Amino acid sequence: MSFPTHRKRRLRVNESMRRMVRETQLEPADFVLPLFACPGEGIRKPISSMPGNFQLSVDEMVKECEGAHALGIGGVILFGIPDHKDEVASENYDDNGIVQRAIRAIKAAHPNLLVMTDVCNCEYTSHGHCGNVIDGDVDNDSTLEWLAASAVTHARAGADIVAPSDMMDGRVGAIRQALDKNGYQKVSILAYSAKFASGFYGPFREAAESTPAFGDRRTYQMDPANGREAMHEMELDLEEGADMLMVKPAMPYLDLIRQARDRFPVPISAYQVSGEYSMIMAAVERGWLDYDRIMLETLTSIRRAGADFILTYFARDAARALG
Ligand code: PBG
Repeated sequence: MSFPTHRKRRLRVNESMRRMVRETQLEPADFVLPLFACPGEGIRKPISSMPGNFQLSVDEMVKECEGAHALGIGGVILFGIPDHKDEVASENYDDNGIVQRAIRAIKAAHPNLLVMTDVCNCEYTSHGHCGNVIDGDVDNDSTLEWLAASAVTHARAGADIVAPSDMMDGRVGAIRQALDKNGYQKVSILAYSAKFASGFYGPFREAAESTPAFGDRRTYQMDPANGREAMHEMELDLEEGADMLMVKPAMPYLDLIRQARDRFPVPISAYQVSGEYSMIMAAVERGWLDYDRIMLETLTSIRRAGADFILTYFARDAARALG
């Protein structure tokens, strides 16, 4: 009863047929655009390792958001490049910090655009680590206080979602508690739960000026070899009060996106990180890959693996390509 009765090609005869039977759809609302806020005015400084991305002053960021919003993208996630970095990441929990100012300006101009913030210390510490360094190691529990304080300033500025990416133990619980205590019960938490110590963050660290001055992040970010442990991280984050979970990076970890989707009832997201973006862009620049095709194929694969939404530097162009 197989061939010639069954001919799988019948359902591929033309685009109308293919569209009708397509299992995975992409929509602009599935994409979240990462943006980098920097001090100053009228600044649009290209990030050389990530063509098409810029460090933006707040006024320029508001313009960028206008375009993104008009394309119908799901939202933006903000990172900050502060005026000054220090040992205790002061600007990360300052109501007048760069990200806090950016949130206020974006929300004033586009109240309906979802604004997420990355909650982490690495862009704000002089040593580039994600927390409080004591005796050469990132101290977990004292770092939680900085993270909770930072999340509260983001919420106060108007953020809809805070997304801790530091990989300290207990951060989701600490942030939930601090948000609730300050009256921000409605602000949700997207936990970077399965965040791996990945080589794919290289270009981002140039963009965010957050390369660690010594050592690496392997004592807090996950070992790329561990899938069961990733499920445990997610379970714990849910228990601590995470509203949504994330796998990061995306393409090298599609198996874990699928496992998470099958296992947990909450929205699952994936971060197609800087290195995933930049390696595609490098090949496109050489004429080895076709930009639109590869962009949409990778995003479709991440959705097919089970991601409900995707943080991606392709957000704008993918929304445009779908429009
Ligand atoms: C902050 C953070 C990083 C990324 C997102 N949040 C860098 C890191 O952990 O080193 C990476 C994003 C990307 O590569 O696009 N901790």
